[in-house]
Amino acid sequence: MARHSVCKVADVAVGALTEVKVGRSPIVLSRLPSGEIRAVGGRCPHQGAALRFGCVSGTTGSDTPNELTYGCEGEILRCPWHGFEFSLRDGLPTTPDSESLTLRLRMYEVEVDGDEVVVVT
Ligand code: FES
Repeated sequence: MARHSVCKVADVAVGALTEVKVGRSPIVLSRLPSGEIRAVGGRCPHQGAALRFGCVSGTTGSDTPNELTYGCEGEILRCPWHGFEFSLRDGLPTTPDSESLTLRLRMYEVEVDGDEVVVVT
């Protein structure tokens, strides 16, 4: 396990994606609304799109006709290429189907050391 100081805590915002590099590998950081910082591999597990160009959103669902509920605000990363969505909590796809079921984001452990974000690889 190696620890890499990658940026300042203030550089990681809720609803935003911050790309850093560890060696030549891109890693994307985002802060959840709860304050936790998540680090995921910078390439989409589907076909390798650069996730720094994606967006952070939530989920929509419905239990009754004519009613749409919005949830998980700030916890979903949508790939900019084909639109697959993954949870920033666990890296799993949020709308599993036959194509996305086996895909998941590569998750990295994150530590906060003073005002530095440290990614463990
Ligand atoms: S490359 Fe990300 S959904 Fe296809």
